[in-house]
Amino acid sequence: LARGDLARDLTGRHVVVSAGGTREPLDPVRFLGNRSSGKQGYALARSAAARGARVTLVSANAALPEPAGVDVVPVGTAVQLREAILKASADADAVVMAAAVADFRPQTYATGKIKKKDGQEQPPIALVRNPDILAEIAGDRPRPGQVVVGFAAETDDVLANGRAKLERKGCDLLVVNEVGERKTFGSEENEAVVLGADGSETPVPYGPKEALADTVWDLVAERLPKNS
Ligand code: CTP
Ligand code: CA
Repeated sequence: LARGDLARDLTGRHVVVSAGGTREPLDPVRFLGNRSSGKQGYALARSAAARGARVTLVSANAALPEPAGVDVVPVGTAVQLREAILKASADADAVVMAAAVADFRPQTYATGKIKKKDGQEQPPIALVRNPDILAEIAGDRPRPGQVVVGFAAETDDVLANGRAKLERKGCDLLVVNEVGERKTFGSEENEAVVLGADGSETPVPYGPKEALADTVWDLVAERLPKNS
């Protein structure tokens, strides 16, 4: 199909995208966070909207302008992100987890600033595991035929790590980035391989995050059940 024929190929679909990075508060002045800018998730949301989808963008701490025609749900922590994703995905045709989710959160939140004592060597922070939102959605799809997509930033044996993660999560597609110097965090560009549960492997050359977003929706659209 020519590009023009695909232009509105997500019309009538509801898609849910998570973007940004979660922040887990320790006390009124500190949090555990990560370096995700949200740019890739926002590019996914803009692309889906341009292709005709109704888009819910669950946005964790991204300092980016709200895309026009997109329903933005702001969240802070992983637990809040999970709530928002579960709610929005009940009637979704596709869920794309582009957000960086903290694997752990502080066990307790201190309502006053945490102070160290003289000579204290032991760090005062205990962590507990956060829920795995992607694995939860993929393992128990709120809607039959729903397409579930994850993202992974890897080092070392990037493809093998990605393949193992795709299987562990049980999602349909996993976008695998190699983390490196000029790549991924905060940049306008990205390079990736999209792995499919069906064994497919789609390389996406170094380029704008918009191009990667469009490839993701191409692969999602192929996997959606036909519009009834
Ligand atoms: N993810 C999630 N919930 C979590 C952690 C991750 O939904 N608690 C999602 C991310 O949004 C991403 C995918 O899972 O789409 C992969 O994230 P990643 O951190 O690479 O996966 P982990 O299983 O946490 O693996 P690792 O130990 O390598 O961090
Ligand atoms: Ca992780």
